[in-house]
Amino acid sequence: MKREKDVTDISTPAVTREDLFEMMLSPRRTAVLRAGIELRVFDGLAGGPLEAEDLAERLGIHPRGMRVLLAALAAIGLLDVESGRYRLAPGAGEVLVTSNPGYFGSAMRLASSDYEWQALGRLADAVRHGGTVLEQHAETPEYPYWEDFAALPTGNTSRVAGTLADLLREWAAERPSLNVLDTACGHGYYGYTLAARYPQARVWDVDWPNVLDISVRHAERMGVRDRVELIPGDMFSAELGGPYDLTMITNVLHHFSEERATEMLTKLARVTKADGKVAVVAITTDDQPPAQDPIPHLFSVLMLAWTHEGESHSMEAYRRMFAAAGLTAPQVHSLPGVPLRILLADRA
Ligand SMILES: C[S@@+](CC[C@H](N)C(=O)[O-])C[C@H]1O[C@@H](n2cnc3c(N)ncnc32)[C@H](O)[C@@H]1O
Repeated sequence: MKREKDVTDISTPAVTREDLFEMMLSPRRTAVLRAGIELRVFDGLAGGPLEAEDLAERLGIHPRGMRVLLAALAAIGLLDVESGRYRLAPGAGEVLVTSNPGYFGSAMRLASSDYEWQALGRLADAVRHGGTVLEQHAETPEYPYWEDFAALPTGNTSRVAGTLADLLREWAAERPSLNVLDTACGHGYYGYTLAARYPQARVWDVDWPNVLDISVRHAERMGVRDRVELIPGDMFSAELGGPYDLTMITNVLHHFSEERATEMLTKLARVTKADGKVAVVAITTDDQPPAQDPIPHLFSVLMLAWTHEGESHSMEAYRRMFAAAGLTAPQVHSLPGVPLRILLADRA
């Protein structure tokens, strides 16, 4: 929704029917994109323009369905049409044709997965209830969605993991040992990036067993598998071992209430060496109004629909959590264009 309108001009209502209509219709766009990716329409057009019937035949799809979908893909700007032949819109091939290195279609399995759609479809119920109403949700042990999440780290993941490794450069370089605990590691990139950079680093990965099966594949690909140990199971009850030079929990504490997140952070602080560090990566809110910082607030809605007590915690809440866990006030690092913050602290 455009926000530049002059709200002092009382002749134009600040929120219009058009604004609402745009919001109401946006799931259709998402559905059209999802179907186009799922049916490999963009791959089918990678070789050049085709009529709907020819593409339908090539992809083994009903011609009527193909005709309607192609027109809708053109309507949302992903295809161009001329004399009844459809072709990829400028730039679409780079991000939507699977053989291209910049292919981004698999992010759909994270950004608009069936799991998320199912959760958001029950949002009003979750609001009434104050938390998820789903039987299977993000806190369910071995939830299959986390397998997709682990298999498909986005471009941002490598960037944030690289930034964390940069921030630790001087501290890590001086240490004879760099034992790292990566809690709820998912894909494991945060730990493996450190292991790839620092030869003395060893990583202990905690996550559900079905997720760790996928994490280790990344460790192998990144050439660090021989320095990775696995701790399968529930991070709240698992014996974490240690003490570690660095303990991390990235993109996880917002799945839980402040109390439960503090419990986890305290557990990590206890297995961190006295001169060690604790790193958290999180989507946080700060003092800005929601309209100027929408991503964490919309993420909170997903957490409401998908967890019992999770939400994007404020920076103030994180400072409370760090203090209660016996840690120093975190140094906060933001990354331009990424809605995540890296919080780094020492044992107090
Ligand atoms: C959002 S992903 C974060 C993955 C990775 N740390 C990252 O920064 O992208 C959340 C991860 O937490 C794991 N997880 C959630 N609850 C857990 C629990 N109680 N014990 C172990 N792992 C858990 C999930 O399996 C999933 O891999």
